[in-house]
Amino acid sequence: MTLECLLDGEVVGAHVFDIDEPLRRIADTIDLPVELAHSGVVEFRGHVTRGLRQTHLRYIDVHDTAAGLPIDYVFPSDYNAWPVRRLRNIVIGTTGVCNASCPHCPTNKPMLAHLARAPMPWPLFKRLVDQIAAARLYIEGNFTFGLHGDALMDPMVVERARYLKSVMPHAKILLNTNAGPFNERRHAPLIDLVDFFGVHAEALSSEVYAQLMQPLRADVVFPKIERLIELAGDKVAIVSPISQVNIGEYAAMSKYWNERGVQVIGLPFTNRVTDNLNYYDYALAPSAGICRQEVVHDLVIDWDGKVLACCQDFSRSNAIGDLEQESVQQVLSNAARRKVFDLLGEGRWSEFSSCRNCKFDHATRVEELLEEALHKTTDEASELSLSA
Ligand SMILES: C[S@@+](CC[C@H](N)C(=O)[O-])C[C@H]1O[C@@H](n2cnc3c(N)ncnc32)[C@H](O)[C@@H]1O
Ligand code: SF4
Repeated sequence: MTLECLLDGEVVGAHVFDIDEPLRRIADTIDLPVELAHSGVVEFRGHVTRGLRQTHLRYIDVHDTAAGLPIDYVFPSDYNAWPVRRLRNIVIGTTGVCNASCPHCPTNKPMLAHLARAPMPWPLFKRLVDQIAAARLYIEGNFTFGLHGDALMDPMVVERARYLKSVMPHAKILLNTNAGPFNERRHAPLIDLVDFFGVHAEALSSEVYAQLMQPLRADVVFPKIERLIELAGDKVAIVSPISQVNIGEYAAMSKYWNERGVQVIGLPFTNRVTDNLNYYDYALAPSAGICRQEVVHDLVIDWDGKVLACCQDFSRSNAIGDLEQESVQQVLSNAARRKVFDLLGEGRWSEFSSCRNCKFDHATRVEELLEEALHKTTDEASELSLSA
């Protein structure tokens, strides 16, 4: 494996790895000192003899230094601190059950058949809420209901929202659902209790919707989404990963839902840290995840109390605690969380099987593509009106 730095097309620095070395470890951080004799266009060029799809140049960080050792890079974040005294988001798998089986999601696929799925037991949920309240942590973001299942498939969803708001009236609840299980009679109290509804709808046309959100059907689900919007207004946002399959519909989706008063939020597509779901058939801008130590300030709990380092870790390969055995205070300060803080702080993603496999479409590139998709249709529309 080789990494080269070129100045105006000429190689000015190179790092060559012996292929017999344990690549996984040594390639996590590559220091490539170069001296540039003049200013010009600098390019980086990598070469691997095998494992191309597993090899990512995650980011390049350039330091202008005097002669000597380059200073260490620290990812800029308010969350570089240990111990954890404030939380970004609390993500709760209020149920592991989902009514759908989207082809790019591990839920309801054979790869997770070994894992049980059920609603979170009430005593566990109550203990979790009570302990978070007692810890008196500052919580910047939301309490998210819905992790690897659908929050409206949870028979206790109303009771949970009510209990959480009774203990922490200022807590913000984000509820993730595909809206298929929405039932106005049962779920009406949620309209006041929930602060944001993230409604996952990946397409506008019934064909693409049926392909991406199997086995749901747009003609059944859209009336439910529209009714939810009538009741909850702009608390609702349509949230969808954007891929090769649905980017062609993004502009139409935005127009349709904007006209009904709600936003469409396009998410960068991820492989859910698994190689089993044909990521490259969907990806628009493949790259690798670059989360750093700040992730320890998210508290992610699956339905049975397992604490995960990352909400994308559907197969739970990096469980870092268990709320059936430990308290909230303990899971926020235990050795496993500290290890995530230390190793991701050093950029050693390959030490965790979840991070090693993580692929994430490049957020900035996806934003550009979405902007282009919106403008293209505006241009097309104005050309059409000019020629009419
Ligand atoms: C895993 S779902 C769980 C909750 C609920 N069943 C739902 O679909 O909203 C949570 C969020 O992940 C998003 N999502 C699903 N597959 C994704 C993927 N491959 N990449 C990025 N986001 C994805 C959905 O848009 C949804 O907002
Ligand atoms: S993305 Fe959401 S709706 Fe689709 S299968 Fe996964 S959990 Fe269910």
